[in-house]
Amino acid sequence: MKLPAHIDTTWLPVALDGQVGKTPLKREVAGIPIVLWRGAEGLSAFRDRCPHRNYPLSQGRVEQGRLVCPYHGWAFRGDGACADIPGCAGASSRLKAETVGVREAFGVVFVCLAGNTPFVVPPMPEGPEYDHFWWAMKPEAARVFDALDNVLDPFHTNFIHDGYIRVKHRRQRVEQSIEVSEDGFEATYVQDTDHGWMSRALEGPRTRSRGRYFPPVAFQGRWEGPKGLTLCVTIWFVPENDSMIRPFARFSTPKSKGPAWLKEALIRLFLFRVIDQDADALRHLSDNIARFGGPRFGAGPADRLSDKLMRLYLGQPLTPERLGPFEMWL
Ligand code: FES
Ligand SMILES: [Fe+2]
Repeated sequence: MKLPAHIDTTWLPVALDGQVGKTPLKREVAGIPIVLWRGAEGLSAFRDRCPHRNYPLSQGRVEQGRLVCPYHGWAFRGDGACADIPGCAGASSRLKAETVGVREAFGVVFVCLAGNTPFVVPPMPEGPEYDHFWWAMKPEAARVFDALDNVLDPFHTNFIHDGYIRVKHRRQRVEQSIEVSEDGFEATYVQDTDHGWMSRALEGPRTRSRGRYFPPVAFQGRWEGPKGLTLCVTIWFVPENDSMIRPFARFSTPKSKGPAWLKEALIRLFLFRVIDQDADALRHLSDNIARFGGPRFGAGPADRLSDKLMRLYLGQPLTPERLGPFEMWL
């Protein structure tokens, strides 16, 4: 399957602020190699290709605030203009490095292939009442669509995360309602806390949870207890290409629930294994899709979200509606 529609005009997190310094940093977004660097004009991002002879600029160095190509030493300013051609004193070139939209926000670096796109990201908890941290995950062999389908799908949690999130043989009654808008959808699950030990240890009593898809590549999960939000996770499955993703997640918790460093340490400790379990499952899907050729989806009786996900992924609007509540056992 192709990359999602509108990926070129989507702002995507690709690095933590601190990861981009004077040494150029290479990333790949939707099949396009990119170089991030800091120079005299601050943060810049180019397609990773010297306009002179195609050498990857990420192999270069920042000297005197300019990015210098290692092949013939042409030096580029932050706006892509060529500032110096060694051996040709005073000469200039109209050739420019191709810039990519870049923006620092919320403590990370976002890029957008179509640079003139307004900066829009999913709404996230903000303000002095919340603590936040980012989790920049390793690249995984997975297709964006499968990663989104996985994170929106509650039924795999009893099996893939048996004992961690839910328990295979101890199911709970859950009420699912779905709110569909033209450009997204949100599923709400009313239930008690899951039986898995991670949920028990981290969360406390639950009243409901919600999962929302923000096309093309973002998901947001919110967990709520009697006093309101307990955890919000916004995750971007940034496609490096059509078979690799580099997930970036922002975790927000209310300040009342203990010191920020402790919450972060606990969440990382518990979730590390869960993230691995999903990465393993996604790799199996990718391998089998490659082996059997082309994905084939079968819809079970409770797969109410995947057709909506597919439409939005392909850039097709949905018909606004409310569905449910549906009873399910998870
Ligand atoms: S290829 Fe970059 S300076 Fe020639
Ligand atoms: Fe999962």
